[in-house]
Amino acid sequence: MNMGASMELGDEDLDAVIKLVRSHTGIAMNGTKRVLLQGRLLPRMRAVGSASYRDYIETVRRGGAEVTRFVDAVTTNDSAFFRTPAVWWYLSDEFLPTWQARMTARMNARPLRIWSAAAATGEEAYSLAMICLEFQRRHPSFRFAIEGTDISSQALEAARAGVYRGRTVERFEATRPELFQRYLEGGPERYTVAPALRDHVGFAPHNLLEAPPSVARYDLVMLRNVLIYFDEPHQQRVLAQVRKAMCPGAKLILGEQESITRLNTAFAFEQAHVYHIDEEAA
Ligand SMILES: C[S@@+](CC[C@H](N)C(=O)[O-])C[C@H]1O[C@@H](n2cnc3c(N)ncnc32)[C@H](O)[C@@H]1O
Repeated sequence: MNMGASMELGDEDLDAVIKLVRSHTGIAMNGTKRVLLQGRLLPRMRAVGSASYRDYIETVRRGGAEVTRFVDAVTTNDSAFFRTPAVWWYLSDEFLPTWQARMTARMNARPLRIWSAAAATGEEAYSLAMICLEFQRRHPSFRFAIEGTDISSQALEAARAGVYRGRTVERFEATRPELFQRYLEGGPERYTVAPALRDHVGFAPHNLLEAPPSVARYDLVMLRNVLIYFDEPHQQRVLAQVRKAMCPGAKLILGEQESITRLNTAFAFEQAHVYHIDEEAA
């Protein structure tokens, strides 16, 4: 492969790549992503032996295994343990006690079902498992299951491995030292999530533009830092699918930069980052 000037992604190829990204993931990109896309696609082109972007685009268009690798390359999978602290205090101090009080009053108590949608490399799903296990220490009858999904198979592989290092681990240790001690094992270079967390968390592939991953509905959906990648029609499409996955009374948690109040959706704002199904609009 000629690594010279021809490796610049020209306008026509850039447009074709942007269309492919949008059709496979819903992610909206524009010309400002030229350098990012070049950096992400060149290693894939080397791996499959494409001589030009045109060749590589044709390979992806033909479908098959390279589509999975293409999606891995164009998605941004960064995450963190206990991202946005206010959300975690809301879940521990408000959401879980309210849920448990409701279940205790019922004859047919059932496990809490949580969906970490766009789970990336798993930090959010494992953070959820930690606060649920902490809650269970005080309320032994509390039961729960967490499902993490993502469109990127590479991110899911990392999530299943549950091995973390570097800044994500340092930040976790600095902000929640007790939970860090209890639920991460190994170190100092490489930490693994404790088996107690894995027992409650499963990971599966899922595209948010499609029907929900499970017929059983969820009581809590974390949909954070992914809507920002979509344009408004795709945001509405994702939210309509997510709505179908939620039980009556379920909560939806969005990321810090994601407000949906301007959109026409089935959700009503409750408090910072927290939404519920608007029964009048639904
Ligand atoms: C920045 S990460 C957010 C991770 C986590 N939710 C958090 O807030 O820390 C965005 C994730 O969205 C995923 N993603 C992008 N488009 C998607 C789609 N159409 N369906 C499912 N996941 C998608 C990406 O693969 C990536 O892992």
